[in-house]
Amino acid sequence: MTNVRIGIIGAGAVSDYHHVPGINIDPRAELVSICDPNEELLAQRQTEWGPTKTTTDYEELASDPDIDAVIIATPNYTHHPMALACIAAGKHVMCEKPLGLNRDESAEMYRAARDKGVRHMTAFTYRFAPAMRYVRHLVKSGALGELRHFRSQRFLDWPETSWGWRQYKNLAGAGDLFDMTIHRIDFAQDLMGPISSVCGAVARYAPRDKTPDGDACEPSEVDDWSSLIGQFGNGAVGVWEGSTLMKGYHNDGFGYEWAEVNGSEGSAAYQLTDPNNVMVGLAGEPMQKQPVPEEFLVIEGSPRDPHAGVPSTVFRYDLVYEFVSAIVEERDAVPGFDHGASAQAVADAVLESFDKRTWVDLETDLG
Ligand SMILES: NC(=O)c1ccc[n+]([C@@H]2O[C@H](COP(=O)([O-])OP(=O)(O)OC[C@H]3O[C@@H](n4cnc5c(N)ncnc54)[C@H](O)[C@@H]3O)[C@@H](O)[C@H]2O)c1
Repeated sequence: MTNVRIGIIGAGAVSDYHHVPGINIDPRAELVSICDPNEELLAQRQTEWGPTKTTTDYEELASDPDIDAVIIATPNYTHHPMALACIAAGKHVMCEKPLGLNRDESAEMYRAARDKGVRHMTAFTYRFAPAMRYVRHLVKSGALGELRHFRSQRFLDWPETSWGWRQYKNLAGAGDLFDMTIHRIDFAQDLMGPISSVCGAVARYAPRDKTPDGDACEPSEVDDWSSLIGQFGNGAVGVWEGSTLMKGYHNDGFGYEWAEVNGSEGSAAYQLTDPNNVMVGLAGEPMQKQPVPEEFLVIEGSPRDPHAGVPSTVFRYDLVYEFVSAIVEERDAVPGFDHGASAQAVADAVLESFDKRTWVDLETDLG
């Protein structure tokens, strides 16, 4: 196969932060087209990312015969129609999280990609963090014993001004829950197995009725804090909480993140702000920091230098490597749309649980 020719839909923050750098370090990947309705931004990206075709119409990009694979990095409400159009045209698709506005949209995207036989991937970034990969190894190798408990805390100190499209239900689906906690639901399921039942709660702290420039805007409709307790199918339990409005947790934008697994023999924890080290404690011993072994610093084959760049940022470049590898090797990408739909089913259940003030059991069949 020649280079994997990639088109990006959505030339905003996340494409610039890790998708384009990921393409740039992968010799098998080539950025050939970008799509965004903002023509000024398209012109700016031509300078920053290098010359490509441009279009303001995603359907034009989806039907371009010179494109093999598409990365969708647009506001949440657009993911479903865009992914279906790209899949129908036979493109491999990596789509940002949350996959859709709800489980039904996400499950439909999964089934469409599966039935068409294209590669599909959900951009669950944190699975690629070295410490997360090593915690996973400890879990799967049995080093922690029988899995009993998972805990995740994600705090950010972001402004209380408008969050743009992210604060309206019809555009984003939900707030912190779909933006942040959904990643933690995903990696918890990757570590512990499927979640079978949840009890959730959300809260909105700020009206967010001013833009960063001080102009009035429609107030926020979504959660600033999300939490759940859950039971996994294997009998383990978990607790998650996250918020973008926790003062004092700015930390250069990376905030605070701690996620741990506790088993019958030991505990292991990942921290986003120290991703090349892991905390491990075996029974009777304190939790101690240790370096992540070299072989877990990048995914297998990745050309990324694990010692270059900001550690909390650069592991994200391995997303594109996994996507391109799956295309070249003609195998499933991990995490796929099935993982995206499964995490979204749990997130939907959090909202349902809070609305009904009850536990909600999960339906795992995606059809
Ligand atoms: N995986 C991660 O770690 C991570 C991090 C940040 C954002 N995200 C996700 O990425 C997506 C984009 O987030 P962002 O922060 O880059 O947002 P953003 O607002 O910075 O960028 C979105 C871009 O999409 C463009 N757009 C809007 N409608 C479009 C259309 N019809 N066709 C083409 N382009 C269109 C906008 O003009 C904008 O340039 C969201 O789904 C978000 O949840 C994921």
